[in-house]
Amino acid sequence: MGRIKGVTPVLIGLMGSGKSSIGRQLARALKLGLLDLDDYIVAQAGMSIPDIFADRGEDGFRDMETAALRAVLGQRAVIASGGGIVMRAENRALLKAHSPVIWLKTAPEFLARRINGDSNRPLIAAGDTLSRLQQLAGIRYPLYETCADFTLPRGDMNKKESLAAILELLSDWKNETCARV
Ligand code: S3P
Repeated sequence: MGRIKGVTPVLIGLMGSGKSSIGRQLARALKLGLLDLDDYIVAQAGMSIPDIFADRGEDGFRDMETAALRAVLGQRAVIASGGGIVMRAENRALLKAHSPVIWLKTAPEFLARRINGDSNRPLIAAGDTLSRLQQLAGIRYPLYETCADFTLPRGDMNKKESLAAILELLSDWKNETCARV
């Protein structure tokens, strides 16, 4: 584990892909804190995500999300982002300038079973969750791909296996980075 000391990963991916829960375990393994962007935004705004969407619209939420990303990037922590972080070019540029960014790639079919109609997630609160997630995946997969240093295709990997795979990716990456310097 010593080899990956000082590494501050950012997790990206569709809602429900495990960014917060795997992020928490990853932070523990790396002996870092976890900064969850959604929690940060909620604390700053003093209101829930559905209330922010209702009060300020999605654009208002995205403004807060960019400000939050700027505030937390570079801190000694694992960062769990919100699923829509890649929607703004400004955020993508910030992510591309940071390493490592890890995409938790999870199929909409799997996610729909986990987060069906979650009322805390305004973008899927109404309508058919699976078709909404498929639509979001169509738009966002290419964007996640351009921002990610690594893609973790979760498939049927559980959280423990995902964590182990991430730690291995980070260790290989750190070795390669050290070898190049
Ligand atoms: C969003 C994902 C949510 C939250 C907001 C918007 C999105 O975060 O930021 O509801 O656009 O996909 P999670 O990915 O943590 O659910």
